[in-house]
Amino acid sequence: MLDKLFDPDVIAVIGASRTEGKVGHAVLKNLLQGAGHKVIPINPNVTEILGLKCYADVLDVPEKIDLAVIVVPAAAVPSAMEKCGQAHISYVVVISAGFKEASLEGARLEREITAIAGKYGIRMVGPNCLGIIDTSSSLNASFAASMAFPGNIAMMSQSGAICTVTLDWADRTGVGFSKFISLGNKADLAENDFLELFRKDDSTAVIAAYLEGVKDGPRFMDVARNVTREKPVIIVKSGRTAVGSRAVSSHTGTLAGSDAAYTAAFRQSGVIRADSLEEMLDYSRAFSTYPLPRGKKVAILTNAGGLGILTADACHSIGLSITSFEEETITKLRQKLPEAAGLYNPVDVLGDAGPQLYEHALEVLLADPNVDGIIVLVSPQAMTDVPAIAKSLIKIIKTSDKPILCNLAGGTRIAAGEELLNKHSIPNYPSSERAVASLKALCDYSSIKVKEHTAPVTIPVNREAAQKIIDDAIASGRRTLGLESMGLLKAYGIPVVRSRMAGNLPEAIAVCEEIGYPVVMKIISPDISHKTDVGGIKLNLRNAEDVERAYLTMMSDVKHYMPNAHITGVQVQQMVTGGKEVIIGMDRDPQFGPLLMFGLGGVYVEFLKDVSFAVAPINDKEAQHMIASIKTYPLIAGVRGETPSDIKAMIDTLLKVSQLVMDFPFLTEFEINPLMVMPEGKGCLAMDVRMTLRKE
Ligand SMILES: Nc1ncnc2c1ncn2[C@@H]1O[C@H](COP(=O)(O)OP(=O)(O)O)[C@@H](O)[C@H]1O
Ligand SMILES: [Mg+2]
Repeated sequence: MLDKLFDPDVIAVIGASRTEGKVGHAVLKNLLQGAGHKVIPINPNVTEILGLKCYADVLDVPEKIDLAVIVVPAAAVPSAMEKCGQAHISYVVVISAGFKEASLEGARLEREITAIAGKYGIRMVGPNCLGIIDTSSSLNASFAASMAFPGNIAMMSQSGAICTVTLDWADRTGVGFSKFISLGNKADLAENDFLELFRKDDSTAVIAAYLEGVKDGPRFMDVARNVTREKPVIIVKSGRTAVGSRAVSSHTGTLAGSDAAYTAAFRQSGVIRADSLEEMLDYSRAFSTYPLPRGKKVAILTNAGGLGILTADACHSIGLSITSFEEETITKLRQKLPEAAGLYNPVDVLGDAGPQLYEHALEVLLADPNVDGIIVLVSPQAMTDVPAIAKSLIKIIKTSDKPILCNLAGGTRIAAGEELLNKHSIPNYPSSERAVASLKALCDYSSIKVKEHTAPVTIPVNREAAQKIIDDAIASGRRTLGLESMGLLKAYGIPVVRSRMAGNLPEAIAVCEEIGYPVVMKIISPDISHKTDVGGIKLNLRNAEDVERAYLTMMSDVKHYMPNAHITGVQVQQMVTGGKEVIIGMDRDPQFGPLLMFGLGGVYVEFLKDVSFAVAPINDKEAQHMIASIKTYPLIAGVRGETPSDIKAMIDTLLKVSQLVMDFPFLTEFEINPLMVMPEGKGCLAMDVRMTLRKE
């Protein structure tokens, strides 16, 4: 699929122009610089452009056209598309702008051309894009300033400007690409299609992308899961801080913001997320150049103490370990290094070190089984021959089965060395921190590659009972459900604290006796979401007098805070002690759907903000990961001789919630807060629940 898009025999440029400086001219010129395909300009007003016969219409062209590149103004694109359809053209790149990104009328035009493409089965790139480049087929169907160098990185970008920036940067650094795609508005072909393509593309080893969003979240996760097992996928996604425009009332929604789903989805599907364009390019170059390290043990080789320490700090803070060497390594280093040299990690060959010392030290370090990867630092002292050292590094890097990342540090005096590295497609990281971060990305991918993605096991539940509770709520016009919907949890086998409803004081006293003191009393009202805030929670009631007093104050407090709230009664619960409060929530993300949240819970959850996210459905490993990745995990796992909490019970509950929210898309928000987790082996209990149903 998409083969002829990237390797067409005959290409038509609809809107080709004779005028230098026009997009229709630039595209034509770029295409002509390629080889192996015939280029035909289409323009009704001229008969010849750049020596090529020009046709008025694609329908006049006698040959079969494989690809049409459209550069006419937006308003003329629908009729151009229609003609492409009639001419049986399978692929179209719409470079023209003025669509969804521009105006409502543009959005209408975009729908129109997408429908035409659909009608004829045309696959379309764009609109509003820079075009596409394939270095292996020598195709430059874009208005980029120059053709990319060949290489093994496939890049796609939702921003045309980022395409030009990257290509220009690559022009200077010599970084090569297999394919380069400007996605534009993604009206038809989008990141998922190209991820699939890159996976199968022999000339691609690394996949990089700049995205502002994904078109189809669940499909993206499916595709990415498969692709990342074969090739590294590095994505920089913008809009990290944009505040969601939806009104959110749940903790999960508030804490998730707009970006948590992307972070979770990327992590779950093995995508390496870069925080900036620079980071994306750094990582891509690392993957493009180096073998994967077997582990996280790093050796640092330097000619300057300070740089060595900074690098060690960077390794440490990012989770790479500064390795200890074998005896033999130290002995061999000592043989050739000067007396004052540092033989332990970081290895310091000293300021006057020449290429031979670097070479010797590198060879010794590479032979040490405790070394998985090396960071080499070169600072330009008066006697340092940087280009000579660079040549030595190149020689060793080319044959090494371990990654050796370089930081020739400085400016003017390292430029020649850097150029040499670039010539051999070896990156020079401008700072040791960037080299270290890139090495970390290589390490991370080693574990992503082997990660199993097993589907979650279906847990036996009483789905009918749950359905009935939801149906009843919908029938009675309710959207927000509180404690009265605890039955839903029970139907899914989630343990719930012993509780009873009461409509008035005598009933309340009676159910308290039934449950057994001490008890907790909670207000039940469709209008009250957070009961604590309005005096609607009374804890630790020990006898009937306590209950009476609590009931009366509760009613008057609630009336005071919320005079108009409709109160249906109270719920009495067994007072539970000796556990830890956690929260399990779900909020529907517009792109990825059910986003689960786990965190240390109770009334402080929004203050502590110590939570983790995952897109449902999740398997037990992901549930375990959610729990283990919060900062306060040690409190749950047991600190200072404390018994650990029942982590198995939490995993079990997370899996049940995952299944529940998958089974009922009608639930838009769901939250158990708190889930009281008892010590290991003693289970957990839901004490409060809140959910919102979709408005229909
Ligand atoms: N059955 C119970 N046993 C012990 N403590 C409870 C119980 N129910 C609630 N609590 C405490 O009261 C807090 C608030 O109760 P909750 O039902 O979550 O009300 P809301 O979240 O509406 O304010 C909980 O975080 C917990 O600390
Ligand atoms: Mg609560």
